[in-house]
Amino acid sequence: MTTPEIDLTVYPDECDAFGHLNQASFLSLFERARWEMLARGPGMDVFSRQDAWPAVRRTVIDYHAPAFPGDVLRFAQALTHHGRTSFTMRQTAQRTSDDRLIATAEFVFVCIDRNGRPTPVPRDLAEFLSARPAEPPGVSRMTVNGVSLATERRGEGPAILFVHGYPLDRTLWAHQVAHLEGFQRIAVDLRGFGLSDAPDLGYSLPTYADDLAALLDALQVDDVVLCGLSMGGYVAFEFLRRYRERVRGLVLMDTRADADAPEVRRARDQQIALARDQGAAAIAETMVTRLLAPDTLRHNPTLAEQVRATMVATPVPGIAGALAAMRDRPDSTPLLGSLEGLPTLVVVGEHDEMTPPAGHEALAASIPGARLAVIPGAGHLPPLEAPETVTRVLAAFLRSLG
Ligand code: MLT
Repeated sequence: MTTPEIDLTVYPDECDAFGHLNQASFLSLFERARWEMLARGPGMDVFSRQDAWPAVRRTVIDYHAPAFPGDVLRFAQALTHHGRTSFTMRQTAQRTSDDRLIATAEFVFVCIDRNGRPTPVPRDLAEFLSARPAEPPGVSRMTVNGVSLATERRGEGPAILFVHGYPLDRTLWAHQVAHLEGFQRIAVDLRGFGLSDAPDLGYSLPTYADDLAALLDALQVDDVVLCGLSMGGYVAFEFLRRYRERVRGLVLMDTRADADAPEVRRARDQQIALARDQGAAAIAETMVTRLLAPDTLRHNPTLAEQVRATMVATPVPGIAGALAAMRDRPDSTPLLGSLEGLPTLVVVGEHDEMTPPAGHEALAASIPGARLAVIPGAGHLPPLEAPETVTRVLAAFLRSLG
């Protein structure tokens, strides 16, 4: 079951003298959308059934664009954190006529009893809001290596396996999966991400690599062009250490070969604590502006919101597990010289702040025969920020392999 989206119309009496939806009315539209969502789920009496009331403790609203009388706004709501007595919801309002993102909001609630004392969040509510969405068309789940992994697979021909970065999922590659005609495109949610299982324990680079090998076995795919972005690149290095014979080409995108420096390892531990204390939304907050180029943030708030929503939906065990796996990864620099004979393309966004272009020149120079492509205008996530360019660059590389 997915949380229903709610369409609400903006009326003239909710607007100011210049015709814009005013802030007080916007607040009540957000609230109406939440009640309507409950009416279509566990019932509007989900709180009163347990003698509880959701008291708002904190609200943050970002207004992205004005709304006018007659606009129909589509409200989507997601549970981003859930404690014993408190919970946090993120809501977005998008105009249906042009898909423009109008506002995003975060509400922190504490459930209180009639004496004002904190009381547990009703179980029906938590279950309703935490329900995992059904798999979208084209995505299937397969149990391999002890976990159920969500995989999107399209097309026929030589296979390319896409491995996403942290804390994202297979939708990072949506454009490439949709458009790389002539190749079998396989995009997977690593364990702990997207629609895959998120066990409490058992995350490491070797485990991710073993999951991928087991997935390829299940799909009866012998070898692939392996394409990993950032953490996906770390996974690709581990896969090469273990399953070199299954890789016929390599794409390393916005990534690095060296291990974490001591201060980065300490920062990983702080992020693990942050995720456990405050949930995925707190992690998303620290990352979204670093992942995307300044121009993407300015001109494409819908994409920024999509990236944030993906991060916010990532299960906390998956986040904590990936952080520990990245913290403990070995230095892959010694591997690079041994990749002679493996066709390799290194790709980086021109404005990638997290893994800057200079590092990629060095990376490409260390792999015999590797080529480098810099994607103009993109930050750390070129497949989303410059989808056509990345698909074109990958198509040319794949065709060059014959
Ligand atoms: C990623 O984009 O996958 C991660 O940010 C990489 C990292 O934190 O090292």
